[in-house]
Amino acid sequence: MRILITGASGMLGTDLVETLSKEHEVVGLDIKTPPFTVHRSQFTVCDITNEKEVMKAVCDVKPEVVIHAAAYTDVDGCEKNEDLAYRVNGTGTRNVTLACQKCKAVMAYISTDFVFDGEKKELYLESDKPNPLSIYGKSKLEGERYISSLLDKYFIIRTSWLFGRHGRNFVNTILKLAQEKKELRIVNDQIGSPTYTKDLAQSIKKLITDHCSQSTDFGIYHISNSGSCSWYEFAQEILRVKGYGLRVKGISSEELERPARRPKFSVLDNSRYIKTVGKPLRPWQKALKEYIGKIEAT
Ligand SMILES: NC(=O)c1ccc[n+]([C@@H]2O[C@H](COP(=O)([O-])OP(=O)(O)OC[C@H]3O[C@@H](n4cnc5c(N)ncnc54)[C@H](OP(=O)(O)O)[C@@H]3O)[C@@H](O)[C@H]2O)c1
Repeated sequence: MRILITGASGMLGTDLVETLSKEHEVVGLDIKTPPFTVHRSQFTVCDITNEKEVMKAVCDVKPEVVIHAAAYTDVDGCEKNEDLAYRVNGTGTRNVTLACQKCKAVMAYISTDFVFDGEKKELYLESDKPNPLSIYGKSKLEGERYISSLLDKYFIIRTSWLFGRHGRNFVNTILKLAQEKKELRIVNDQIGSPTYTKDLAQSIKKLITDHCSQSTDFGIYHISNSGSCSWYEFAQEILRVKGYGLRVKGISSEELERPARRPKFSVLDNSRYIKTVGKPLRPWQKALKEYIGKIEAT
């Protein structure tokens, strides 16, 4: 299969390129070149906000599938740079969608649990009504809407709380802070599912390679590692795995005073994915242990 991956220099994109290029012809696309040597794949530098550039880049490759992971992902930054957020996550996604339409490619868009307001207090289903609290969530939802209104053959994959070897993430932040501080203050009133980009890349591979022909398989999927926790519990587990005896104090979201509001509860129900592919992702604690082992080894 010929697959184009946008956001290929980012945290998830890098793992997608690594995972998929073992068996498929992969072309990466990003606004900047990747910080690694791309194995068995090519790369194209392109700004997705430029419609002509995207159309040419995608149509030159003639992919069967486009995995669209490029985004402006700084959640607090999006509040300050609202225009950029909508330009990249909204218009940029529209441009990729139009290119998929022209080249007749199946599109797989990586979206977020932040499209929900977190008021449900039960696992979020694909059919639940989005109501984003932040500019980031609103701009990602705008991207979803372009896709569902312009294409028939698409996957919208909502995921959450990513950590992986090729980008800034919560695990790395906690490990760094643990070296510098005597006590950590971590939010304990937001609940979600930490997800390892390597596991997510594998699950996306299964979905798009085995379920690209049945029209009933297209649509929205929620995919995250199994289980859930608060950021406070996530931090405690990171420190436990590393054997650090640091004190962690739970604080409220209000105490942290971040520019963007985040959902208090955004655990995604993975039933549709499990029914389609046959297996859930492993528990987040197991994925975290493997991830920490990998960063220790490098
Ligand atoms: N991280 C999470 O916790 C999380 C949770 C749920 C969903 N997601 C979604 O998952 C996807 C991957 O997230 P990630 O954390 O791997 O993101 P990431 O590391 O920030 O990767 C995104 C990549 O897209 C690039 N990009 C930004 N603007 C672009 C443009 N105009 N044209 C082309 N490329 C552009 C970025 O470059 P720059 O670095 O130069 O901006 C970056 O290399 C995103 O769609 C995100 O919304 C992430």
